[in-house]
Amino acid sequence: MNPNKQTAAGLMDLENRFGAHNYHPLPVVLDRGQGVYVWDVDGKQYYDFLSAYSAVNQGHCHPEIVAALVGQAQKLTLTSRAFYNSRLGEYEEYVTRYFGYDKVLPMNTGAEAVETAIKLCRKWAYEKKGLPAGSAQIIVCENNFHGRTTTIVSFSVDPEARNHYGPFTPGFIVIPYNDAAALEKALREHPNVAGFLVEPIQGEAGVCVPGEGYLRACYDLCRKHGALFIADEVQTGIARTGQLLACDYEGVHPDILILGKALSGGVCPVSAVLSRNEIMDVIRPGQHGSTFGGNPVAAAVAVAALEVVKKEALSANAFRLGKIFREEMQACCRNSKVAASVRGKGLLNALIINNREQEDLAWDVCLQLSRNGLLAKPTHTNIIRFAPPLVITEEQLRDAMAIIRRTIAAFE
Ligand SMILES: Cc1ncc(COP(=O)(O)O)c(C=O)c1O
Repeated sequence: MNPNKQTAAGLMDLENRFGAHNYHPLPVVLDRGQGVYVWDVDGKQYYDFLSAYSAVNQGHCHPEIVAALVGQAQKLTLTSRAFYNSRLGEYEEYVTRYFGYDKVLPMNTGAEAVETAIKLCRKWAYEKKGLPAGSAQIIVCENNFHGRTTTIVSFSVDPEARNHYGPFTPGFIVIPYNDAAALEKALREHPNVAGFLVEPIQGEAGVCVPGEGYLRACYDLCRKHGALFIADEVQTGIARTGQLLACDYEGVHPDILILGKALSGGVCPVSAVLSRNEIMDVIRPGQHGSTFGGNPVAAAVAVAALEVVKKEALSANAFRLGKIFREEMQACCRNSKVAASVRGKGLLNALIINNREQEDLAWDVCLQLSRNGLLAKPTHTNIIRFAPPLVITEEQLRDAMAIIRRTIAAFE
């Protein structure tokens, strides 16, 4: 169970003493996972309602994805892109057909893929749109979360993410989210806009779902003004919201699509930027890259992970069970002083905790949820995100909702 025979307290102490304190984890030490469940070092079982921030959509240790990992790891792990490898082309064909694009640029983490999209958009703007050198602007939204690199935090509005990390990268215009009129105004006022970077649902901001028609309106505005519509579907993509992509709800096919997290089912870091030839072809040899991006293990794992999404109809499952979750939780909120409301799409949902009297009530609810066998984490102070693996069954969901209801009732 716990090969090094350390107690949970001992293992947490190790992380606290020797690891940087850039996270504030719940006090559980996980050791094993399968499907919707994880087990701690003492063998206690939990429902995982975070799914590693939506990376484990296919469930923990999915046998087909793990088989792809192990099989490829025993054959060839890394060549760098100095050479061709026997898995990359096949993956590139698969992923571009899967999402309907001409080309993919393979990277590893979500933030790297966002950085790649920013570079690609700027380069396209100079070389195809004809913007004067150094003038390109990218419009982004308030309360965005696109990762942690210096450029990305340059356009964050979260002081925690930004403070003391300057000087920052210029070239970004921040507008309110869910406000197409603000985008239109920015596009009219700034002649040198290269693109608009947006999360179809703002996950880290607390599962903020924009109004119906917002994405379509933004896409049409970008079209009209010759700016690229860039969707960051790192968290919302790959069946999480009940469609393959959250943009699918509005029939929007982004000019640049950014994917990560569940592209590997949480097995290894795999991210991707997808686009059409006219855009992707502005990047030529030597102008962008990554030692690990497009490695054969990642390629094999990503194909297996995407196959599982299709074969197990995970979008349809997320769509159906998401509706049940919101209906049941809304009913729970009606009789509650603690739970104010629920929002989300598919199986990306958030419960808003009414913590007017107690600042850290959402944290305390999560602590109690973990004691009761369900793992979730507050995002901001009063929002609890619930995002189980998409392989969850209705029976498991109903069992998990009973835990949530019982936990909340204890705080009333
Ligand atoms: C929308 C979005 N973009 C980008 C990222 C960054 O991904 P990574 O942590 O893999 O760099 C995240 C991570 O939560 C995300 O939610």
